[in-house]
Amino acid sequence: MPLRNRAIVLAGGSGGLGAASAQLLADHGADLVIGYHRDRTRAEELAPLGRIVQADITQPDNRARLLDAAPALYGLVIFTGMAARVSSDWDEQLHVNYTGPILLAREAAERMKAAGVSGAIVLIATMQTVGLFPGSSIYAGAKAALVHAGRILAKENRGPGGIRVNIVSPGVMNAGMAAVSIQSGKYDRYLQDQAIPRWGHADDIAKAVRFFLEPDNYITGQHLLVDGGLNL
Ligand SMILES: NC(=O)c1ccc[n+]([C@@H]2O[C@H](COP(=O)([O-])OP(=O)(O)OC[C@H]3O[C@@H](n4cnc5c(N)ncnc54)[C@H](OP(=O)(O)O)[C@@H]3O)[C@@H](O)[C@H]2O)c1
Repeated sequence: MPLRNRAIVLAGGSGGLGAASAQLLADHGADLVIGYHRDRTRAEELAPLGRIVQADITQPDNRARLLDAAPALYGLVIFTGMAARVSSDWDEQLHVNYTGPILLAREAAERMKAAGVSGAIVLIATMQTVGLFPGSSIYAGAKAALVHAGRILAKENRGPGGIRVNIVSPGVMNAGMAAVSIQSGKYDRYLQDQAIPRWGHADDIAKAVRFFLEPDNYITGQHLLVDGGLNL
């Protein structure tokens, strides 16, 4: 149980993918802070797994409040994201999918460094950072920037006693923001063409997150696609 009692913040942890990771990490004894933005009812369902904190990570004081909830911070996973169909406002998309997450990751790394903690950060992007989907410039572009900046953060924090930073990119998962699109039949062709063996499960992402968080993990600066082969 290497994650037992480790303080881990899950920004956007109340969402479809975040909730599965919260459950898996709680099963491993982690001390969780679970962040949400607007949907308090959904977040409160996870209260048995950890402390629930409201924070809009595009706002500096909210980011500080989220990190303050975990004074002995060891790990941070940033699930926060906004699908392209939710908003076509480029500034909002950029702030939720890129600027907010990377600033939160940087601020967490600074805190870990100041406390002498050799922690781990996991950013959640999308397979659309690799696959090219017409109409997704702002969402995928912002997430691609997150992958790049995340790898820079990994380089800035590598070395003895450093902080590992990795990125997990989901494909079409039958949870969270993609569930509606799956139900509408939008992605049926991926199964019909046998491009993927099944829809992804939120647990597929949770296992990758746990892997990167484990204290004896030797990997940093990597981008892992968890998409059943869709990017190919
Ligand atoms: N589901 C998929 O198939 C899929 C595929 C590729 C990539 N992804 C990526 O995976 C991540 C998780 O997605 P999901 O499917 O779990 O989505 P989701 O169910 O919509 O969850 C999104 C989470 O982010 C939070 N959030 C949104 N805006 C925020 C803000 N400004 N500040 C703080 N938190 C904010 C939401 O809180 P509230 O609900 O309280 O607003 C929620 O906890 C996202 O980054 C998404 O881009 C998902």
